[in-house]
Amino acid sequence: MQTIENVLAIETSCDDTSVAIVHRSGRVLGLISANQDQYHKVFGGIVPEIASRNHTENLLPLIEQLLATSQKKWSNLGGIVVTNRPGLIGSLIVGVVTAKTLSQTLNLPLLGVNHLEGHILAPFLKDDSYQPTFSYDERFVALAVSGGHSSIYLVEKLFDYKIIGHTLDDAAGEAFDKFAKMLGLGFPGGQKVDNLSKGGDASKYSFPRSMMKEDNLLMSFSGLKSSAHRLLQQLGPEEIGKNINHLCASFQEAVTEVLISKLDQAVNKNKVKSVVITGGVSANSRLRELAKSWATKKSLHLMIPPIRYCTDNAAMIGLAGVLRLNNGERHKMQLGPSPSPWETDFRTEV
Ligand code: KG4
Ligand code: ZN
Repeated sequence: MQTIENVLAIETSCDDTSVAIVHRSGRVLGLISANQDQYHKVFGGIVPEIASRNHTENLLPLIEQLLATSQKKWSNLGGIVVTNRPGLIGSLIVGVVTAKTLSQTLNLPLLGVNHLEGHILAPFLKDDSYQPTFSYDERFVALAVSGGHSSIYLVEKLFDYKIIGHTLDDAAGEAFDKFAKMLGLGFPGGQKVDNLSKGGDASKYSFPRSMMKEDNLLMSFSGLKSSAHRLLQQLGPEEIGKNINHLCASFQEAVTEVLISKLDQAVNKNKVKSVVITGGVSANSRLRELAKSWATKKSLHLMIPPIRYCTDNAAMIGLAGVLRLNNGERHKMQLGPSPSPWETDFRTEV
């Protein structure tokens, strides 16, 4: 089987329309994303129907723009890869149907990619200003934290992912978004809470760290949400306004401490030396800071990708896809979208 050099990758699993061209080495040759926040924020959350409609309008123009700006031709592509699971069905359909049509008309191999495998491999992308510091051939633990998912994986080797921990209720990003919404900061709110926490006193308010001390890799963020709700009701608008930085810093401290504490348990239990943190919440400045000092103290190799590869993007789908295509995997024209991962995607041992 001939080695595939470059793939076109399409990511439309949620509300970001993103396209990329990725080389089999992980080098990102082009990446363009259209963020839809302005359309969803008035509703305080993602409206699936609006997301699908925007993907339909944005996707092909973005691909044309990608080819033009990266100075690549269709003939430079050796495959089409697309997120087909898990995600919002209407959103996934736009990407999957487009990918299948391109694959058929250009006679290029097709592969459907699991979005979470994309997040796990995102730290292994490279470009002119970012290089990974270890390889995906090493055994490593991955904390993938986003708006929809918060899980810990043990990656025994490439394509062999074991879920060893997860949240029992809300994802960490969802907790940030809900807290931001209570504060009237708009949606999505993770980045806003992060910005407002700067200069705040993280010990001013005490938020619960659910399940943190338990000897397992399970997490829970719903208690945090209820406790925040009660506290904000007690404080009232004036006090909230005066203490917004302290509130954000204290809330953020609770979420990030739980994440690092569970990651620490994961590393100890599985005796690994290499760790990645990925997904939208890995953009959080406090999480990055805590993770770095924890990794230094424990002499671990830690990788957290730059923010452009933390949040949803097609480059990470391109890397997972090109590696699998070069592993001989192909999907047929029957490829469909799935709201959840396929049974074969992950082993689970929590
Ligand atoms: O990975 P992602 O782009 O999309 C999903 O697959 O969900 O993650 C989006 C999530 C949102 O919940 C957003 O609020 C959160 O990541 N997020 C952050 C930060 N930047 C994005 N959370 C905390 N701090 C940030 N700086
Ligand atoms: Zn994601």
